[in-house]
Amino acid sequence: MSQKFSTLLLKWYAQCGRDLPWRHKGGAHPNPYIVFVSELMLQQTTVKTVLSYFDRFIKRFGDVKTLAEAPLEEVYLYWQGLGYYTRAKSLHQSAQTVMSDFGGRFPNTREDVSKLKGFGPYTVASFLALAFNQPETVVDGNVMRIMARLDHLTSPLDEVLPFLRRKAESLTDPNNAADYASAIMDLGATVCTKTKPKCDACPVRVFCKSKSSVDVEQIPMRKKMTKKRVEGYVYIVQNTQGEVLIRKRCEPGLLSGLYEFLWSEKPLFDEAVDTKKTVSHIFTHIDMTLKIYEMTTDTPIGDGFFVPWDKLSEYAFSTLMQKVIQKYNHKG
Ligand code: ADE
Repeated sequence: MSQKFSTLLLKWYAQCGRDLPWRHKGGAHPNPYIVFVSELMLQQTTVKTVLSYFDRFIKRFGDVKTLAEAPLEEVYLYWQGLGYYTRAKSLHQSAQTVMSDFGGRFPNTREDVSKLKGFGPYTVASFLALAFNQPETVVDGNVMRIMARLDHLTSPLDEVLPFLRRKAESLTDPNNAADYASAIMDLGATVCTKTKPKCDACPVRVFCKSKSSVDVEQIPMRKKMTKKRVEGYVYIVQNTQGEVLIRKRCEPGLLSGLYEFLWSEKPLFDEAVDTKKTVSHIFTHIDMTLKIYEMTTDTPIGDGFFVPWDKLSEYAFSTLMQKVIQKYNHKG
């Protein structure tokens, strides 16, 4: 092992690292706003999915001032499909904080960045590393996996977390924090993958005690997380002109500010007809299944209002409600 871990990793990254629109190889990104938006988008969403939203978002909201001044509803429209909409709200609110509290310039200290909504310890570290090349260590699930495999740790993940964090910190190159953060994320995403890791192609295999072992896919060991199952009913309520009833979810809470059809965990209307169609969606802690019912009335219900089907695209819906639209297929 004549070369350091970080030296080998950075060499590999310079040649094989992914070119991504929010990435700047060879140091900090010159535009912190790009890192700001991409890190929030990437929090619970894959690179592949984010790629299909990012450019459109940046074309519309080109800088922090434009984003801060835009209506939240429009931000939701551009976020539609990415899921976890509280992130969109946090991003919008944080853009406003950057304008009001920091004079439109992005903060570059842990203390100040932590004041931004949506910036937990992970995002603070990745933002400071990627936007300002500060010696911060990014420790996400991919990095944990790499660290656990390097030492062939077979204990459950939650028992070794502090150890893995310290290990990740000790391997970070403090002089190349931006490239190092991108490099270790790429290693996890493309080489040291959860299943079928490509140990033969790994630039740091000489440091790894799990390389090509039969149980490499089992590391890290994790305890099973149980999700709550929710079952309910969603209603396609149409008037005699064929318009459909929607309502805005009220704040606060999950998916607040988005639009939805009427739904409930209990049946709401005796006269509604079962379409025999169902939709399912897995949220962070909830596995949700809704049965689709339909009915006709000309009287709006509660705070709902009727809109023509071809105008639905002007309203932002959660992924679950978009699945309802697709599955119900009112033209089909
Ligand atoms: N996941 C979180 N941040 C990322 C980034 N900047 N590049 C790739 N994947 C990421």
